Amino acid sequence: MHRLTPLAAVAVLLAACQPKPEQPAYTGLDMQELMVHVVDPAAFAFWRGSGYVLTEEGEQDLSPTTEEGWKAVEDGAATVAEAGNLLMLPGRAREPAAEWNKYAKLLTERALEAKAAAEKKDRKAVFDTGGRLYEVCVACHEKYVIGPMLADEQKPKK
Ligand code: HEC
Repeated sequence: MHRLTPLAAVAVLLAACQPKPEQPAYTGLDMQELMVHVVDPAAFAFWRGSGYVLTEEGEQDLSPTTEEGWKAVEDGAATVAEAGNLLMLPGRAREPAAEWNKYAKLLTERALEAKAAAEKKDRKAVFDTGGRLYEVCVACHEKYVIGPMLADEQKPKK
């Protein structure tokens, strides 16, 4: 039977314990998927709870009316705030990175303001901070995507 010398055995064990420096964190979702499955639904969970719609009965306030409703709005903002970090992970940040990170940090900053507004159940502040949050999406898209976001029907068919 082949036997390892004690020293070789230690070397094998040490090698097995080495962390993989290439992978500081999971970045398996590409940018498009991160946007579609994380950033976008979280932002909409927030936006859904603000503003008014016109119905046949007149203006209808979209603000939540239950504790769970307010929590869902706040959860959305919290997720967007954390997503700002996900955008800055090595492998995700795009060039020029300094500017990319500036948008990502601004996304977090404004999402935290939005979260605070939802926590206070302040309807006007939820509406206002939601608008300010949207400005960051548009600004980054204008810089890094291709001009302003296209409406669904204008998107090239895949
Ligand atoms: C730091 C930059 C940045 C910020 C901030 C940002 N995005 Fe994006 N977003 C991108 C990039 C880059 C793409 C294009 C994806 C690609 O290149 O594959 C994109 C694409 C998208 C798409 C389209 C995906 C598709 O189907 O093609 C949606 C939807 C989207 N973003 C939503 C949002 C929303 C909502 C916000 C704000 C809450 C936001 N994004 C904030 C960079 C950003």
